[in-house]
Amino acid sequence: MTQAVKFFNGVFLMSQLAMHGGPPLRQKPFARWPQFDETELAALNEVLQSGVWGGYHPKVAEFEQAFAHWHDARFGVSAANGTVTLETALRACGIGAGDEIIVPPFTFIATATAVSLVGATPVFVDIDATTFNLDLNCARAAVTPRTRAIIPVHFAGHPLDMDALMDFAAQHQLIVIEDCAHAHGAAWRGRKVGSFGAFGSFSFQASKVLTAGEGGLLTTNDDGLAERARSIINQGRRTSGAWYEHFELGTNYRLTGWQAAILQTQFARLPAQLERRAANAAYLINELAQLDLLIPPAVDEAVTCHSWYLFILRLNRERYPQLNKPSVVQALAAEGMPVNAGYPYPLYRNEVFASVPHRVTPCPITEKICEEAFWISHEILLVEPEDVVDFVRAVAKVQENVDALATKLVQ
Ligand SMILES: Cc1ncc(COP(=O)(O)O)c(C=O)c1O
Repeated sequence: MTQAVKFFNGVFLMSQLAMHGGPPLRQKPFARWPQFDETELAALNEVLQSGVWGGYHPKVAEFEQAFAHWHDARFGVSAANGTVTLETALRACGIGAGDEIIVPPFTFIATATAVSLVGATPVFVDIDATTFNLDLNCARAAVTPRTRAIIPVHFAGHPLDMDALMDFAAQHQLIVIEDCAHAHGAAWRGRKVGSFGAFGSFSFQASKVLTAGEGGLLTTNDDGLAERARSIINQGRRTSGAWYEHFELGTNYRLTGWQAAILQTQFARLPAQLERRAANAAYLINELAQLDLLIPPAVDEAVTCHSWYLFILRLNRERYPQLNKPSVVQALAAEGMPVNAGYPYPLYRNEVFASVPHRVTPCPITEKICEEAFWISHEILLVEPEDVVDFVRAVAKVQENVDALATKLVQ
């Protein structure tokens, strides 16, 4: 125990952990998410007064274009959420029964089940231990003559190495559908995600850094693919066709004007929020590196924008083999920190896959990361720098109380 850690930024940290009955380090909540003011109210009122409550309000196309262009893509096609955008992208690319699609097992369920829902087979491939993104060496080993596509997830907002990924995809003639659900604004060597593959798929679900509660959008540079996706989402219609003309099997996955109104106003806030998150994330990485309980996230130097949807931390089990993730997460939560325990096991261990065809390649890194990694969500990165310091204090306090924590482990 060092003196520096006993007193961290003037706060005495030797008090009992809150989970053992001591006083919590912080009682004040962190920033509320989502953030809004009367701008959102005015935008909603505009839709209300227009009477265009369904179908396509003009705000939908305005938002699609603005968001796609900001993401270095020519076309934007909105939809009801970021699950059906993945399904639509797969269908628009002609993917279906008999096709194998490479996906990571460290992601939200939709990345894999969208593949199953179009009749293709998800093939789970291991991740890299530092970026938590697909490991392309493992992907290479998983390719078979049936492999048609790969769905990289820019996990937590850290882009995949898109130079390596696009080379790999070209070598094996694979379609790339980028799952950008975590990565609004994220960029690799100055180019935004969602502009590299056949499609980029975004989610505007409530927790995301750009949200309307629900919503999704596909970016693409291919006009034919944009038109196919638009048609699937809008009952098989064509942009140039009449209302009653249906050319292919489509459905109704449309985004509403209400959502577009909120998305436009939230989008205007996004660049400043990205900057603030990046500054607070850099501060946290630096401060947490002075302690040794947790391993802070690493950022590849080719990443020119990380969206910091999640700030992923790993329990340093080499240094503290006597601890486990649930105990540390619970200890931090009791100190008033909004921590999320993350994934308890790889995606393929979910019961759904007992009956849904899939293939699992060896994923030792994902298995290990699930035992060590948890995250704080992005609202903690939106506060003033003097508030972020509380998170560092909380980690320092837990580190000072490791012995007590280890005697009463939570499973
Ligand atoms: C990686 C990833 N892909 C896809 C989705 C699906 O998005 P939605 O919730 O908008 O359907 C999510 C959403 O949480 C996600 O995190």
